[in-house]
Amino acid sequence: MRRARIVGTGSYLPERVLTNRDLEKMVDTNEEWIIARTGIHERRIAAEGEYTSDLAAHASRRALEMAGVAAEDIDLVVVGTITGDFPWPATACLVQEAIGAKNAYAYDVSAACSGFVYALSAAVNAIESGKVKKALVIGAEILSRIIDWTDRNTCVLFGDGAGAVVVEAQEGESGVVSTHLHSDGSYWELLHQAGFGSRTPASREGIDNRTPFLKMQGNEVFKMAVRSLADVAVEALQSNQLTVKDIQLFIPHQANKRILEAYVNVDRYGNTSGASIPIALDEANRNGRIKEGDLVLLDAFGGGFTWGSALLRW
Ligand code: UT7
Repeated sequence: MRRARIVGTGSYLPERVLTNRDLEKMVDTNEEWIIARTGIHERRIAAEGEYTSDLAAHASRRALEMAGVAAEDIDLVVVGTITGDFPWPATACLVQEAIGAKNAYAYDVSAACSGFVYALSAAVNAIESGKVKKALVIGAEILSRIIDWTDRNTCVLFGDGAGAVVVEAQEGESGVVSTHLHSDGSYWELLHQAGFGSRTPASREGIDNRTPFLKMQGNEVFKMAVRSLADVAVEALQSNQLTVKDIQLFIPHQANKRILEAYVNVDRYGNTSGASIPIALDEANRNGRIKEGDLVLLDAFGGGFTWGSALLRW
């Protein structure tokens, strides 16, 4: 059976650490509230002059190195991001240029925190259809540049980072077993960034009204996130006739520790949106947490709303 198999993982976190104590000096918050309500201790912030495509390129080089694959041999670069270098061209094109993947086609996927799982699913489809042999799938975000740093409801939650995987067509049992994706646009307003799109084009009033920044109704999103992450995990298990006991590693999107009882790195990196799952996958892989033959379940939820899963046989 032709399967899309992950043959290399990589991640990159910017050097600068922003602690909860640092945030106490910026907005009316405190370390105890942040830890109790989110589980986040610190997050990384990109340096001035460091862009989303830079983070993505660093993570990609590490994944290519692990895979032993040359950038020229990549047929497809797909980046899940909502904080690309520009509204367009696609950040994937900038990554392609940066790493020298000159034989690839490249595009971005906009699915907020589900961006990596959506991007992985697109790559899997391209590989299973026979059109693509090797793909580079990336989740990369610099949330710190779309956050309203005067809004304590959101600014304590997010962080910057990137994760990447090299996916290759292989015969056999190992590889992506299934993906399931969902969306419900009726909830768009609960988690979005209005400016500057066609509904709210660039204007001085927009800047005065803080239109360019991410807005979230946290507790509404929280309720839906818990339900959807659970539903989609059950869907992945049932459609493959599996139970929870069959899964060796469960990697949910890292938004809030109270949502998670599985692999956790939100304490160190905050919510890195589309980058959170591939960063955690790379950490788990490099720490020896995943062995050949293991079943790994990736589970995502984000703005749109969007949610989805990918089940991997390692
Ligand atoms: O990535 C996509 C998916 N994202 C998520 O799933 C995130 C979902 N949401 C969450 O993680 C949580 O809802 C939050 C962490 C954002 C908020 O936690 P919560 O338990 O839902 O708190 P809340 O919004 O109900 O606010 C409780 C109180 C409020 O005060 P009052 O109105 O009760 O007096 C807030 O004003 O906490 C206050 N508060 C803060 N206090 C200190 C909100 N932010 C802060 C803060 N520091 N940073």
